[in-house]
Amino acid sequence: MPKWLKDAIFYEIYPQSFYDTNGDGIGDLQGIIEKLDYIRGLGFNALWLNPCFLSPFMDAGYDVQDYYTVAPRYGTNEDLYRLFKEAHKRGMHVILDLVPGHTSDKCKWFTESCKHERNQYSDRYIWTNYVWQRPYEYPLIAGNADRDGCYMLNFFLSQPALNYGFKDITHPEWQMSYTDKRVQATFDEMMNVMRFWLDNGADGFRVDMADSLVKNDEDKSATATLWRRARAMFDKDYPEAMLVSEWCNAPRAINMAGFHCDFILDHHNKLVHNASRNIVNGVNKSYFCKTAHMSAKDTFSCYLDELKQTKDNGYMSVISGNHDTPRISYTLDETETRLYFVMLLTLSGVPFVYYGDEIGMRFIPQPSKEGGYNRTGTRTPMQWDNTKKNLGFSTAETDKLYLDVDRTKNAPCAVQQLQDNGSLINCVRELNALRHAEEDLQADGDMQVLVCEDSGLLCYKRGKNTAVAFNPTDKALKLDFAVDNVLYCVGKITPSGKGTTLEPQTAVIFKL
Ligand code: GLC
Ligand code: CA
Repeated sequence: MPKWLKDAIFYEIYPQSFYDTNGDGIGDLQGIIEKLDYIRGLGFNALWLNPCFLSPFMDAGYDVQDYYTVAPRYGTNEDLYRLFKEAHKRGMHVILDLVPGHTSDKCKWFTESCKHERNQYSDRYIWTNYVWQRPYEYPLIAGNADRDGCYMLNFFLSQPALNYGFKDITHPEWQMSYTDKRVQATFDEMMNVMRFWLDNGADGFRVDMADSLVKNDEDKSATATLWRRARAMFDKDYPEAMLVSEWCNAPRAINMAGFHCDFILDHHNKLVHNASRNIVNGVNKSYFCKTAHMSAKDTFSCYLDELKQTKDNGYMSVISGNHDTPRISYTLDETETRLYFVMLLTLSGVPFVYYGDEIGMRFIPQPSKEGGYNRTGTRTPMQWDNTKKNLGFSTAETDKLYLDVDRTKNAPCAVQQLQDNGSLINCVRELNALRHAEEDLQADGDMQVLVCEDSGLLCYKRGKNTAVAFNPTDKALKLDFAVDNVLYCVGKITPSGKGTTLEPQTAVIFKL
C-alpha cells in the first residue's frame, strides 16, 4: 500500500477546462503547472487528471487514439513530465486516467484490426467471424470495416471494446476464452502503457470502467485476475504508485481485484448519492438537504458495510462530484454543501474533490460538447477571478472558448473567495488542513458510528478520539453528551444540561 495515501486529498482536473496559458481557448498542462501552488495552498496534495492523450475527443478523451502521446491541444509529453516534477517538488502526487476497456475507433490498433488481412492487431478487439454473425444480445457493429465480421462496442459508437476474452462462452465460434494467449496480449500492452507513464514520473492511475474488461464475467472474477497481475507489478516495481478503480463495488475492486482504492459513485444508492444527490420525483431527499432528508442510517449503511468488508485491504474513495455527475451545488445549497464537505473530508478512505467544487461552481445545462451530453454542464471552465476576461480562464475571444464560462451574476471565483474568510473555499481549505493535522481523520483511522437516529442526528468517531456530529435538518437536535473540545464547526452548538444541542444545519468536529 503506497504510504502517501494515508494523508492524500485528491483534486480532480478536467484539463480542457482548468487554465489556458496560450490563449487558444482550451486548458493546457502548462496551465495546471501554473496553478499547482493554488491547489497545494488549499491543502490538496494529489491530482487526478482526466485523459490527456491523443484523441479525436468523441468522449472528451475517453476515446484514446494513442496511449503513449499527450494530446497536442494540452502540450507535449515533456510538459507532462514537467508537471510530474513540479508537483513532486511541492510534495504532491499525480495520477493519470487509464482507459483500458476500449480505444477510439481512430486508434491504429483498431484501424489495423479492421483490415481484411490478418495482422498483429486482428485479435485486439472483439470480432465475430462474418458480418452476418450478429447475436443481438451484444452491442455489435456491422458493415463499418473491410474485415468480414462485426466488432463489439464498450461504450459509445466511437469506442470499440478491447479484447480481454470471455468468461462464460456462449458463442464458441467467435468468443475467445479470457485465458487465451491472444487476448492476454491485450492486458500485456496495458501493463506496458502503465509502465511507460510510471517510469516517466506518474504516481498511478484512475482506471476507467475497470470492471468492464472480460465479457460474460458475471461475478467479475476473471476481470479481477487481470488486475491482480497489475497489482503484482505495482507491488514489485512501483510500490508507491496507486490504482483507484471506477468499479463502484469496493469488496470486488479491493479484495478481489487488488485495487488500492475504489470510488463510491452515484449508482446503486451508495453514500454519495444518498448524502448529496438523491432526487426522487423532483424532491431532494439528500441527507444534507435541510428538508425532506433521508435518514442517517439509510445514507450510511451501504458505505459502512463495504468499509467493514474492505478494512485493511484498501480505501473507499468518496467524491464531491466528478466530470460525470451534476455539480454538488445542483442539489445542495451553500450551507448544505459545507456540511457535505465536513463529511467528505472526515470519512475514512481517500477523498476526491472535483475542480471548482471548492468554490461552489454551478451546473450549467447546455448542448453537448465532445460526448458530454448532460455531463457538459459540469465541465465548464474554472472560475479564477471576476475582474478578468473570461473569469481568468483564458484570454481568448469568447467564441473560441472550449466551453463558455459561467456568465451568471455572482458566479463564484477563486480569487474573490480567498479574500473572504467566511467563504466556501476557506471552509474547504480549513477542513483539508485539519485532516492533515489530525491523524485520526486520515485514510485508515477507525470509523465507528456512535449515534445514528431517524431524526437526522449522526455522530461518528474517527481514530482514537476524534468525533464528527451532524444535524443537517432545519430543527435543533440534541446529542446526549458534552462537546467541549471543538476543532471545527459549521453552524452552531450550545451546551444543554449534560448534552449538547446542535442547532439547525450544524456539523462539528471535536475531541472526545
Ligand atoms: C467513465 C468515464 C466517462 C466516460 C466513460 C467511457 O464512466 O468517467 O466520462 O464517458 O467511462 O470511457
Ligand atoms: Ca491552451
